[in-house]
Amino acid sequence: MKKIIAIVSVAAAIGAAAIVGLSMQTAGGKTGEVTSGRSLFDYPATTGNIDPVLSEGIEVTPRLLEHGEWVFRGLCIGCHGASGDGNGAVWELGDLYAKDHKLPRKPRDFTEAVYKLRSTPSGSLPTDVDLFKSISRGLIHEQDMPAFKFLPERDRWAVVAYIKTFSDRWEEEAEWQEDPIEITDPPPPDEDSIVAGKEVYALMQCEQCHGPVGKGDGPSAPGLEDDAGLPIVPRDFTDATQFVGSSDPKGIYQTFTTGLDGTPMPSFADFLDETQRWQLVWYVISLRPEFDLEATRTQMMSATKGKQVAEASMEQ
Ligand code: HEC
Ligand code: HEC
Repeated sequence: MKKIIAIVSVAAAIGAAAIVGLSMQTAGGKTGEVTSGRSLFDYPATTGNIDPVLSEGIEVTPRLLEHGEWVFRGLCIGCHGASGDGNGAVWELGDLYAKDHKLPRKPRDFTEAVYKLRSTPSGSLPTDVDLFKSISRGLIHEQDMPAFKFLPERDRWAVVAYIKTFSDRWEEEAEWQEDPIEITDPPPPDEDSIVAGKEVYALMQCEQCHGPVGKGDGPSAPGLEDDAGLPIVPRDFTDATQFVGSSDPKGIYQTFTTGLDGTPMPSFADFLDETQRWQLVWYVISLRPEFDLEATRTQMMSATKGKQVAEASMEQ
């Protein structure tokens, strides 16, 4: 019996390797190159819009679930495992043969249903749209999980429905599922808001983990673990390409407001008012070497102005 399982998982690994070896070039998408030495995968990255067109999703029918299972078996099983626990062959065999996991982070365990990227408060389940977006964007492309935006929208909704079948939490908590937090349009930054954001950063002790200038090297950084007991490093804010979620202003606002469940990154929802949150967002963004305050300001002001002109002309 053991032997059969081993053969099956090797076959699955080969399958996964073949799938992840596909080189796909889409319009506007960049083809992933093996750059980091750890990167195994060659999917197109996604920088564009990942919002679903069908914002209400697709009605979950047995047929859709069956389709979702098919997508899962084709594209996700190698990493997330047949039972959805994250122990797929890519993870397991990496340890066995290479003596090191090829993936820097373990694939999500869908049986626990604890998700990092949520528009919902800390401890809640994500919305279907949250899952749809994570699957579309991928998680730190070329390292953890490829972007699946190239899949037709129906395939992505189907696999969202399917991965939810791995945990009872979805049914048990359906009635008291919390609403997404509201995020307004960000106010344009200025020098004062960035200085104020630096104070909020100190007050909230973000630097304990993220370090004095956001390099991810604070005094508490060594030895941090995620809920599975695996080592985890606080994000380096100076490199936006390494964000697991969205690195734009609204994305950062969401991250520290809802927290990344399953990791030491807490929710600060109860400690910050609206003004402080945007100050903190801009301070975090200002740590990127390429950040240009004037350019960002001008761009945002003219976008707002354009919107106002458009709205005014519609009123007439
Ligand atoms: C190459 C391996 C790999 C493949 C293939 C893969 N994933 Fe993942 N996935 C990961 C890893 C690794 C993580 C955890 C990343 C992290 O914790 O930062 C993850 C996390 C996730 C998450 C959790 C996001 C969150 O908010 O916590 C979802 C949902 C997900 N994957 C869905 C899928 C689906 C659906 C597919 C197939 C269409 C898929 N994955 C294919 C490796 C993979
Ligand atoms: C106890 C340690 C700890 C504290 C305190 C902390 N963080 Fe984090 N933070 C983390 C860890 C660990 C990660 C990486 C999580 C991961 O890789 O999934 C992270 C990730 C992030 C991310 C990146 C999310 C992404 O998409 O990759 C942002 C933004 C962030 N933290 C902001 C903050 C801010 C702002 C504060 C203070 C208000 C703060 N953090 C306080 C541990 C901490």
